[in-house]
Order: sequence, then C-alpha cells, then structure tokens
Amino acid sequence: MGTRWLLLVLFGCINVDSSPIFGEITSPNYPQGYPNNAKESWNVQVPEGYGIRLYFIHQDIEPSDGCEYDSLKVIIGDAVQETLCGRSKDGSTGHPIKERYYPTTTLKLLFTSDFSNQERYTGFSAYYTAVDVDECEDSSANPCSHFCNNYIGGYFCSCPPEYDLHEDQHTCGVNCSGGLYTELRGQISSPGYPSPYPENSVCEYKVQLEPGFQIILTFQPTDFDIEVANDGSCSYDSLTIKAKGRKFGPFCGKNPPPRIETASSEVDIIFQTDSGGDNKGWKLLYSEEAIPCPSHVTENAILDPQNDKYIYKDTVTVTCEEGYEIVIGNKKIPSFRANCQADGTWSHSHLSCQPVDCGAPEEVDYGEVKYEESTYKSEAKYNCKSKYYTLSGEVCGKTTLQLQSRIYGGSKAKNGYFPWIMHFSFGSLGGGSLINDQWVLTAAHMVQDNLQPKLLAGNVDLRESIELSAKKVIIHPNWKEGDNENRKNYDNDIALVQLSRKIEMGPCICPVCLPDNSEKTSPDIDEIGYVAGWGKTSDKSKAKVRYLQYAIVSVRKTEDCKNSVVTDQAFTENMMCAGGSGNDSCQGDSGGPLMFRYVTDEVEDEGLYLGGIVSWGLNCGEFGMYTIVNNYLGWIRDTIQQTEQEDGEQKDKPLRICKDL
Ligand code: ARG
Repeated sequence: MGTRWLLLVLFGCINVDSSPIFGEITSPNYPQGYPNNAKESWNVQVPEGYGIRLYFIHQDIEPSDGCEYDSLKVIIGDAVQETLCGRSKDGSTGHPIKERYYPTTTLKLLFTSDFSNQERYTGFSAYYTAVDVDECEDSSANPCSHFCNNYIGGYFCSCPPEYDLHEDQHTCGVNCSGGLYTELRGQISSPGYPSPYPENSVCEYKVQLEPGFQIILTFQPTDFDIEVANDGSCSYDSLTIKAKGRKFGPFCGKNPPPRIETASSEVDIIFQTDSGGDNKGWKLLYSEEAIPCPSHVTENAILDPQNDKYIYKDTVTVTCEEGYEIVIGNKKIPSFRANCQADGTWSHSHLSCQPVDCGAPEEVDYGEVKYEESTYKSEAKYNCKSKYYTLSGEVCGKTTLQLQSRIYGGSKAKNGYFPWIMHFSFGSLGGGSLINDQWVLTAAHMVQDNLQPKLLAGNVDLRESIELSAKKVIIHPNWKEGDNENRKNYDNDIALVQLSRKIEMGPCICPVCLPDNSEKTSPDIDEIGYVAGWGKTSDKSKAKVRYLQYAIVSVRKTEDCKNSVVTDQAFTENMMCAGGSGNDSCQGDSGGPLMFRYVTDEVEDEGLYLGGIVSWGLNCGEFGMYTIVNNYLGWIRDTIQQTEQEDGEQKDKPLRICKDL
C-alpha cells in the first residue's frame, strides 16, 4: 500500500497539469445524517493521460423508486452515468462497497436530498484516484501504425526494423528515397518488388541523364499493381512522375501507364503509399532518346537539309519562302544557321522570316495608285486619270462614228470619227494613223522621198489642226526604193514615223487599234471598212481638200481588182483589194487608214482597227489596193521597241493637243 501512494505522489508532482490525482468526497455532515433539502456537487479532475477510479466505502442514502427522493449522481459532461441511493453494506472488510472506472479526466458528482427523511441516513463516503489509461489497448483509436507502447500517463509508437517513425510520431514507413539513376538505361521498382510494398511510405527516385536526351519510361503489363482507393482514385497509393514542369500521373491500379516520353533529361519518380493494402507494386524501365527539335524553325521558312526529325546538335540553314526575308535591325540577310539545342529548341529563335516590303508602288503615267501596305501579297490599286487611258496602255480605236448600214459615196467626217488620222504634207500629200502615243503608221511610197514630213492632227478641218514634227521615218526594209511615177510594185508599202514628242491622249487625238492577226481582226471578203483622208474626192477634183472625208468600202477578192483593169502592176500577198460601187480612196489618201470594226457579238463598245493602209490604185472610184497591216505586226512591234530602247527614257512631258480632256 505504501508504495502505491508514493508512486501516485511522484506522478502527481511530475505532471505539468496540477490537478490532484486522488481525493475524498463525502455527503454533508457525514457521518452524521445529512440534512433535508441538500444539494451539493463536486467536480473531479485528473491530469491528461489518466482516467478516474471512483470507489465508495460507505453508502446510506434514502431509498426510493428510481432514487427520486434522495440521490447521488455521477455525471460526465451532460450525461448521467449512474444514480445511486439506498444502503450498501459497510465496507468493514477493507474492500470498497462499490468501485467504478471512468475513462475520462473530468466528472461531476451531484448529491441531492428532498424535504423529509423517514429515518436518519448517514450519506456516503467516496474516494477517487487518477489511474493510467492504456491507450494501446483501445483498439478503436489504434494510435500507432505498428507497435504501441503504453506508459503511465501516456504512450509512444515504435517501428519494425528498416521502418522509420514519421514526424507524426504514429506511423512507420520505409525510407526508400534518394535513389539517383545516371546510367543511360535502367530499371526502377517499388521497395521489395514483387513482394508487397511497404505502407506509409514516400519513395522518391531521380533519373538524371546528359542534357539533349529525354528520358523514356516504359512498363511491362504485368509489372504494375498499386492499390486503388474505394472511390476509384489514386488517393491511397500512387505513382507520379515529374519532368521539367510537366507531371504524369498519379497512376494506380493494375494497368500500367503507357510509354511516357518525358521530353526532359531529368525525371523525378514519386511513389506514395498509405497504411493499408497488400499490392505487389511496380517496376519500370527507363531509357534515353535524343530530344527532337520541332520540324520547323520559324514560320515561312525553308530548312536545309530537310529532315523528318532533328535532334540535339543538328544544324540547319534557314532561308525564307518566296515573299519573305530575314531582317536584323535594318539589314537583310539571305539565311541563317540554327542548331537544335539540348532542350529540344532551336537556337536563333529571335530571327524570323518576315514578309518582304516592296516599298511604295511605282507611279504610272496618267494614273494614280492607292495602297495600304507594301508588304508581300499586299495590293495596290491603279486608276487612270483620264478615260483615254487603260491600265494596259492607251485606249485605241475609240470612235464616235456609229455603226452604219451601207451608205455610199464619200462623206464629210466629224471630229471624233477617226481621231488618229494624220495629214502628211511637205512633199507628198497623204495620210497616216497614230498607233500609240508617239508612232504613226503610213505608206512607204509616201515618205520615201520625204524624210522630214510635216504632220497635222487633232481636227478634221486642216485649218484647225495642230502641226507636229517627225523625229524619224523608218521604211519597211523590203520596200523597193524607186520612182513612184514608174513604180510597178507596191509590195511592202508600209512605214513608221516617230513623232518628235509623245502626245497626250484625248478626245481629239488617240490611236487606232492594230489588228492582232486573229479572227477578230482579219476582214472577210465583202466586209465593209472605212477609208478616210484629205485626198481628191474624184479623179478630176483639185488635190487640196480642207475637211476630212471618209467612204465605206468593202473587201474584195484580189482577182476582182486584177480583172477590173489591164495593168502590169504586181499583186502580192501583202495587198488587199477593196472598194466598188463608186466608193474608193484617191490621190492624196495614201498612207491613210482603212479601218474595220472588230467582229464581235457586242459591237457597241468596240472601236476600229487598222486593217489596211491606202497604197495604190488606178482609176479613182473603182478599186483601191491597201497594204495588209496584219502582215507587219512583228516588224511594227520590233521596230518601235528597238528605236525606243536606243532613244532611252524620254523626259519631256507628253504634248497636249486636245483642249479639253
Ligand atoms: N497612190 C495614191 C496616193 O498616193 C493612192 C491611190 C489610191 N487610188 C485608188 N484608186 N484607190 O495617194
């Protein structure tokens, strides 16, 4: 007995909690009878880690049904644990008459008596002591994952060999971390694999390879068994892989994850387990592979060499697709070299192919240009300032002469009917036709003796017209020079005259169209055309005419012309016969135009083209012979081009002839 008291005193002193560890509680006036109407309570408190043993050595309380008169109640919190009344035999044997254990650190005793007692009751006498709680015995709390060790006033947990106690002081886990793998390939598995893995553990493994290589992880189908939580999640046990900011998993269950390309040369593998489970764990194989660089370095670029895959240390030459260029500051470079770097990215990522800037679009004569951007594929819009120009060149053949049914005989032309016609004088009299802004087509026989012709243009009335001068006369190379009087061959009767200055197009002067040797511009037999000039109106009339005349003629078979007169003149492939019914050209019309309408369904807007050049004839009023322009298109084009090339660029502003545009 003496030892027990000593121990209790000892523990009572050690305990930081200063609650007494034993005490005596008696009813009022004990062992005299207790008074009526008594009500007294006691709070019993023992230190943490202890329970309360309560025992009675005397009990003499008025008995009643359900102890409703007088009673002693034991209360924990709000719950009455026990209600005592009646008389128990005195504990003269030295043993308590009643003994209780409460697994709590506080309880309350409440004694009450009513207004009367039929006899005298002496009340009660009780002791309480603090008793140690065996936490390890309490299976519902199960405080330790492995071994539980009780001591008076507390308990501690301990672990089997190879396990360590976690910081929570309750769970044991295996120290499985710290594995560092640097071999190019290898195997990693859960602790003890294929025996069940330890509980309550966090195992971390690290694979660290040379930069430029990525780690690949693969699992065999049978090498994976990790406990799944009841809700199907991996919240109990899990395998998680972390690589360069990316996370794979958590994985659990019986199906291994598919092959993992980590895109990193450094990988952390984390295996986490909780307390329960009996699964065998996992095994994985790791290997390395060069980290591929993307198959394109930058947009709109061409790579050389062109490979399906580029890996660490590969080098490519980058050039740009059409319309793109590499710009550094204000310098342009044709290409650059990029290296596939260890992290799977290309070097020189600051360089890119940018759309080429064409700068401001070129200005064009008689036009205006509008644009918003000047980079590759941007568009600029050109417009002509005047209706006498089109974007491809000048408008040609524009006439105010309505398409007429056949009218016969010569008529006076109006301004606007044939605004390309030119009057030639100074030497031979004749005509010519403007075919672009600086060139006039005429007959060779007209200019062969007159290389400095004077030209009049811009009005049907010669007195109103403007005088132009010629810079150059170019006669067709196959034209046979000779006296016109005795000429027997007018083959190749064609010549070009270059004006001294370019002419600005307008309503009073603009070019006639040239034929293009197509169906549209090859007049058929019987097709009607217009011939115009300031020549004689009949064989007998005087040579000088002031106003421009025109007549409608139709194309004839060469035979018709040949048979109409007896002549020793040569007829060639380059001559067209036209006229008849009294309509003809005459002296003074040479070099002038024989014009036709384009053959088309929509005649309204079509202009006139130059089908022939007045060349020769015998009696005016019968047939005339015309040089076929279709046969000289190449010579015309080449001659003009060559001459203009030799001339170089002309700086003079085009000459304005028409007063109003
Ligand atoms: N050779 C003439 C001249 O110099 C043209 C004659 C046209 N004669 C004719 N009947 N169509 O003007």
